Amino acid sequence: MLFPHLLTSLATTSLLGFATAQTCWKNTTCSGPIDTAFPGSWETNIYAPSSRTVSPKSVLSLATREVISSYPGPSLLSSNGSTYVFDFGIEVGGLVTVKYSTTGPGSLGLAFTEAKTYIGQWSDSSNGKFAGPDGALYSNFTSAGNYSYTMPDLSLRGGFRYLSLFLLTNGSTSLNIQDISLNIGFAPTWSNLRAYQGYFHCSDETLNKIWYSGAYTLQTNAVPVGTGRHVPFLTTGWANNGTLGPGDTIIVDGAKRDRAVWPGDMGIAVPSSFVSVGDLDSVKNALQVMYNYQNSDGSFPEAGPPLLQQGSDTYHMWSMIGTYNYVLYSNDTTFLAQNWAKYLKAMNYIYGKVGTSGLLNVTGIRDWARWQQGFNNSEANIILYHTLNTGADLATWVGDTTNLSSTYIARATTLKTAIQTYCYDSAYGAFKDNATATSLHPQDANSMALLFGITSANSTQAQSISSNLLKNWTPIGAETPELPGNISPFISSFEIQGHLTIGQTDRALELIRRSWGWYLTNPNGSESTVIEGYLTNGSFGYRSSRGYSYDTSYVSHSHGWSSGPTSALTNFILGLSVTSPAGGTWKLAPQFGDLTSAEGGFVTSLGKYRAQWIKSGKEYYTLNVQTPESTTGALVLPSWAGKVLKVDGKTVSKGRGKAVGGGEQVTLTVKGGNHTVVMG
Ligand SMILES: *[C@@H]1O[C@H](CO)[C@@H](O)[C@H](O)[C@H]1NC(C)=O
Ligand SMILES: *[C@@H]1O[C@H](CO)[C@@H](O)[C@H](O)[C@H]1NC(C)=O
Ligand SMILES: *[C@@H]1O[C@H](CO)[C@@H](O)[C@H](O)[C@H]1NC(C)=O
Ligand SMILES: *[C@@H]1O[C@H](CO)[C@@H](O)[C@H](O)[C@H]1NC(C)=O
Ligand SMILES: *[C@@H]1O[C@H](CO)[C@@H](O)[C@H](O)[C@H]1NC(C)=O
Ligand SMILES: *[C@@H]1O[C@H](CO)[C@@H](O)[C@H](O)[C@H]1NC(C)=O
Ligand SMILES: *[C@@H]1O[C@H](CO)[C@@H](O)[C@H](O)[C@H]1NC(C)=O
Ligand SMILES: *[C@@H]1O[C@H](CO)[C@@H](O)[C@H](O)[C@H]1NC(C)=O
Ligand SMILES: *[C@@H]1O[C@H](CO)[C@@H](O)[C@H](O)[C@H]1NC(C)=O
Ligand SMILES: *[C@@H]1O[C@H](CO)[C@@H](O)[C@H](O)[C@H]1NC(C)=O
Ligand SMILES: *[C@@H]1O[C@H](CO)[C@@H](O)[C@H](O)[C@H]1NC(C)=O
Ligand SMILES: *[C@@H]1O[C@H](CO)[C@@H](O)[C@H](O)[C@H]1NC(C)=O
Repeated sequence: MLFPHLLTSLATTSLLGFATAQTCWKNTTCSGPIDTAFPGSWETNIYAPSSRTVSPKSVLSLATREVISSYPGPSLLSSNGSTYVFDFGIEVGGLVTVKYSTTGPGSLGLAFTEAKTYIGQWSDSSNGKFAGPDGALYSNFTSAGNYSYTMPDLSLRGGFRYLSLFLLTNGSTSLNIQDISLNIGFAPTWSNLRAYQGYFHCSDETLNKIWYSGAYTLQTNAVPVGTGRHVPFLTTGWANNGTLGPGDTIIVDGAKRDRAVWPGDMGIAVPSSFVSVGDLDSVKNALQVMYNYQNSDGSFPEAGPPLLQQGSDTYHMWSMIGTYNYVLYSNDTTFLAQNWAKYLKAMNYIYGKVGTSGLLNVTGIRDWARWQQGFNNSEANIILYHTLNTGADLATWVGDTTNLSSTYIARATTLKTAIQTYCYDSAYGAFKDNATATSLHPQDANSMALLFGITSANSTQAQSISSNLLKNWTPIGAETPELPGNISPFISSFEIQGHLTIGQTDRALELIRRSWGWYLTNPNGSESTVIEGYLTNGSFGYRSSRGYSYDTSYVSHSHGWSSGPTSALTNFILGLSVTSPAGGTWKLAPQFGDLTSAEGGFVTSLGKYRAQWIKSGKEYYTLNVQTPESTTGALVLPSWAGKVLKVDGKTVSKGRGKAVGGGEQVTLTVKGGNHTVVMG
């Protein structure tokens, strides 16, 4: 019995008994899964509540910010200004209902915040960067009585952890809070928020919690399509009544804000959602809206409606890469065929900006918050390289018969040469920010160069880039040189995958622990989700260091673009990934690092995929992988220097693989089904 719980759970046909008779959000159709795909003890790490209606966990004093009671607890607001802060314990979002009784006229105020830093009679900012403050909601009453107040739909608060309730009165009114409940607004089509279609569990509990915090973040970013941030932005307060796109559920950048589709963010969010929650409906609707709003010149908006910001070449390309990711996980060739003509127009639009030197000349200069963009920027060129390579696969999958696939690959090869020729700083050993002489060696381009294969894994160049990236590290994460003073878990999500791509396992794990570990254990944060960004001084005021002047509470504490560890731990550490649509082919390429075990899995339309590895002695590992019978997989085993290599009980003789670092790296092709490997 090597994997007792694995066998037990596979044998379990009855599903876990979470409540199934719940309704979904408002009038959406309940189309999400009802039960978890992989029941097991790891589910205690799921942050999502078991009900779509939740109550606070504890009550805090506003003055001390300390917990004074569990909820329900003290409830009497005795005079003007009296306040209690109710802590839901995790990030939540939706519509609050408060039941209360009063002794006279007055107002009950409701203020929301994600971070404890900003609790008070004033909400953190979801609208205030460019407009006025969010302030509070008020339930006003003119006489003594019993009242029930539910926030209006347009005032939906997409992301918060703390709710402050306070009394305003000109007289001697007191108010007794009788009940507080929250109708969760996110993951609107899921009746069971814990019905995850993927899982991950390893010997490091910190990594497990980080994996699940990314997953939960993505749930909070899957929102009802009618709850986008209103545009134009209000001058005071907030309104989340914007129409975001088709369908019932759609993936946006953040729970609190912007509540808009941002395709660049999806470059990290979508792979992580696939391996964890397993929500591709929200992805499909987000991509479809970008195609629906494609401009006549072929460019995509930078963000979906109603925001519809324009002018970003990188985000344009991320919509194209997003299409690849979606089809890779879903094999939704119907979606691809429907949008293919528009995809081709998008490709012509962006490739038309490649100039005589062979480099893309960026003219749509909006991007993630990097300080500078434009001309022959390295990051944008590397994204184009990945766009061309993924476009080649898409051409094959859509059944193109005009040699587009080889055209795109040839273009990618030429582009790679130009990037290497003009953008690499060989004296320093990393890519520059652009082809013009510059001393800036950005985190984004260098991380993506490793991840997207501008460098080959075992090259001196790759190893030099990986080493040079370490120079940006602080005790709480990697400072991004292209946005000085800031730590971007979005760009660090590329960095960890870059290190992993070239086998620098320990560096990736160390950065995950430093950066995401710092946030998840920060008592002022959500302790359940991943943050948009923060400063190297440990404050949450992402971007406030470079001349932007706005309320630092505007930062989103539940931002899917920072969820990279979730896909990285599954795809690189456990090592399980799909390599063609719906997992018709897959790969198991584990990286052990300092861990002693890891397991996990995900689901495609073909069925369940799961793997496990255990260190059962010094340099002695046992691996198991189970995939649908109809599939084919590659076992890419870590370098093996020992005596034993057995696959399904049969000895694999030495000398079959390639020599790697004093050992031998063996790659084997296997049919789907159940395979066990012993290495020692
Ligand atoms: C849900 O209700 C709103 C009005 O409250 C309506 O505009 C919308 O079309 C309904 N959606 C569905 C899917 O029925
Ligand atoms: C009631 O308290 C609020 C602050 O909570 C304050 O702004 C306001 O002036 C007070 N009103 C009166 C009548 O004291
Ligand atoms: C409710 O009370 C608040 C605070 O006293 C006030 O700002 C607001 O205008 C009132 N709203 C209405 C509709 O009377
Ligand atoms: C509120 O309801 C309770 C129970 O129904 C009742 O006893 C009480 O008098 C009501 N309070 C007010 C202020 O009307
Ligand atoms: C207090 O009195 C002021 C001035 O009359 C009025 O504007 C305000 O709405 C009152 N506040 C409450 C909470 O009744
Ligand atoms: C959304 O709310 C804003 C602010 O109240 C309002 O101006 C706007 O008309 C609403 N939009 C829709 C589509 O209901
Ligand atoms: C890049 O585009 C800008 C803006 O259109 C233009 O000024 C510049 O000359 C172009 N650079 C190259 C190398 O084509
Ligand atoms: C090259 O990058 C540096 C650093 O970001 C920037 O200051 C400079 O303006 C860029 N030059 C061009 C031509 O894009
Ligand atoms: C990069 O862009 C700058 C600014 O347009 C231009 O001067 C330079 O020639 C370009 N270099 C290459 C290799 O395209
Ligand atoms: C993907 O879809 C295509 C077209 O419907 C189909 O021919 C192919 O078998 C599917 N692949 C897998 C792995 O299911
Ligand atoms: C990298 O290349 C060197 C020299 O070609 C070789 O000795 C080593 O085993 C390779 N390592 C990997 C990880 O492929
Ligand atoms: C998978 O194979 C192992 C080793 O042969 C065996 O012990 C186990 O029962 C198999 N599991 C399933 C689910 O078939």
